[in-house]
Amino acid sequence: MRQFLIFALAILCLGLITKTDAQSSDTSGGTNNRILVAYFSWSGNAKALAKQIAEETGGDLFEIKTVTAYPETYNETIELAKQEQENNARPALSGSVENMERYGAVFLCYPNWWGTLPMGVFTFLESYDFSGKTIYPLVTHGGSRFGRSLDDIKKLSPKAVIGEGIDVVAYDANPKNGPVVTLPNKEVTSWLTELKMIK
Ligand SMILES: Cc1cc2nc3c(=O)[nH]c(=O)nc-3n(C[C@H](O)[C@H](O)[C@H](O)COP(=O)(O)O)c2cc1C
Repeated sequence: MRQFLIFALAILCLGLITKTDAQSSDTSGGTNNRILVAYFSWSGNAKALAKQIAEETGGDLFEIKTVTAYPETYNETIELAKQEQENNARPALSGSVENMERYGAVFLCYPNWWGTLPMGVFTFLESYDFSGKTIYPLVTHGGSRFGRSLDDIKKLSPKAVIGEGIDVVAYDANPKNGPVVTLPNKEVTSWLTELKMIK
């Protein structure tokens, strides 16, 4: 009888330990189910589409913003962006994503700058551990589509899975004119529908 009681007690203790373990892994492991919509935009197109994605998916919007703002004129901005790329610069960012571990899907919206990501997006991608996350790229561009940006995303965030992306043409780059993409953008909605991301 005594032996049986000891055995029963041991089983009970084991059960309690297992339950505690399961609960703690639930709180840490079950949290990366949210959607982040991170964007960099100079003249408003990638920003407008990022907002659309956030609205249609229920994701959280985050602006990738450099501490030093880009100039207001096109010529000055393309010159500065070219220099930054040639110097492989990492412009400092003015904010960071809180609780990145909550996110499983990251929509990354950016304009094609000189054939790839603006350098501030390089800074962003190197700032986080993307393991267990899928990055869905959206590029706005004047004809070069993704350029080298998909390869660069892979290099900068090697632990991420890169999901299907989309490119949207938006020729006019001028912050004074605002976005030229049609809103809401039907191609973006179809893309989100295919990804089963519409809330
Ligand atoms: C600095 C700079 C570099 C650019 N380089 C390219 C390029 O290499 N290829 C391209 O197709 N478009 C290029 N563009 C055009 C932008 O990708 C396009 O206008 C984009 O829609 C702007 O997005 P935004 O409004 O979110 O800033 C460039 C624009 C700027 C300002």
